Amino acid sequence: MPAKPLPKAELHLHIEGTLEPELAFALAERNGVTLPYATTEELRRAYSFKDLQSFLDLYYALMAVLRTEDDFAELVDAYLARAAAQGVRHAEIFFDPQAHTARGVPIGTVIEGLARALDGSETRYGISTRLIMCFLRDESGQSALETFEAARPHLHRICGVGLDSAEVGNPPSKFREVFQRAADAGLHRVAHAGEEGPAEYITEALDVLGVERIDHGLRCLEDPALVERLARDRVPLTVCPLSNVRLRCVDRLADHPLPAMLAAGLLVTVNSDDPSYFGGYVDDNFTAIREALRLDDETLRMLAANSFRAAFLDDRARHDYL
Ligand code: ADE
Ligand code: ZN
Repeated sequence: MPAKPLPKAELHLHIEGTLEPELAFALAERNGVTLPYATTEELRRAYSFKDLQSFLDLYYALMAVLRTEDDFAELVDAYLARAAAQGVRHAEIFFDPQAHTARGVPIGTVIEGLARALDGSETRYGISTRLIMCFLRDESGQSALETFEAARPHLHRICGVGLDSAEVGNPPSKFREVFQRAADAGLHRVAHAGEEGPAEYITEALDVLGVERIDHGLRCLEDPALVERLARDRVPLTVCPLSNVRLRCVDRLADHPLPAMLAAGLLVTVNSDDPSYFGGYVDDNFTAIREALRLDDETLRMLAANSFRAAFLDDRARHDYL
């Protein structure tokens, strides 16, 4: 029998990346959306990516099926059921409002649909949850500002802001103003950096955006002074091993730099990113790295404990989890 999954927090999870083909087809039918795939098998066969952009193209296209509050609530509910089975006790969930408002879905529909399902997460699944609103870095700084203002009536639903989408050529400094506004509103700040983009983007995210965590952060290893800073300041890195292989940031799981990151004293956590597309949810990532990287039980327990250390929890809740 497989071992019981370690209790853990998931800190890098795009809710739109949990859209399984079966739910995509069900929502397409309900909403009268035609998908350019005949079957779920045909759609799954398209999940072969050469880089981040080739994934993003499909990821955004498939979102066309998400239209109503109920759709967003159903998406969350399906994720929570899977997460609970994978040992998740706390989840900080990203969403991409601009990918929906650009299709004419009001931001209130998105946030209230997600939040409604999250309201029941503790009682129904034993998972505490937070929402993190991400800005698309391949859109303009002005678009991010307009999105933030449109979200203002719903900010009580949100614990932080993040930055995602196509990284190369879109440095964090584009988003200085919107991250300042988020800080003024008392929100936490995180950013994807050093996934495909250079180590300088990690430094910029820390210095210009004031982020508290770095999502991915793999390429920090190219800058020894940055590694020393991240280790000294205990800046968490939300690493996503299966994603890194599927998006070809890393050739093979056995070559993943996670052991080097741990050896450098970095506060690493393990997460699933877009589990429907990358072949596994968070405990599947733990299982895969245990085997490919030959990690011992103590290291796996430390990685799970790190997820609670890095979470936006108050000290009492953190203490209860650790
Ligand atoms: N949006 C969803 N998944 C992403 C990833 N891995 N990198 C950047 N943006 C994303
Ligand atoms: Zn991500």
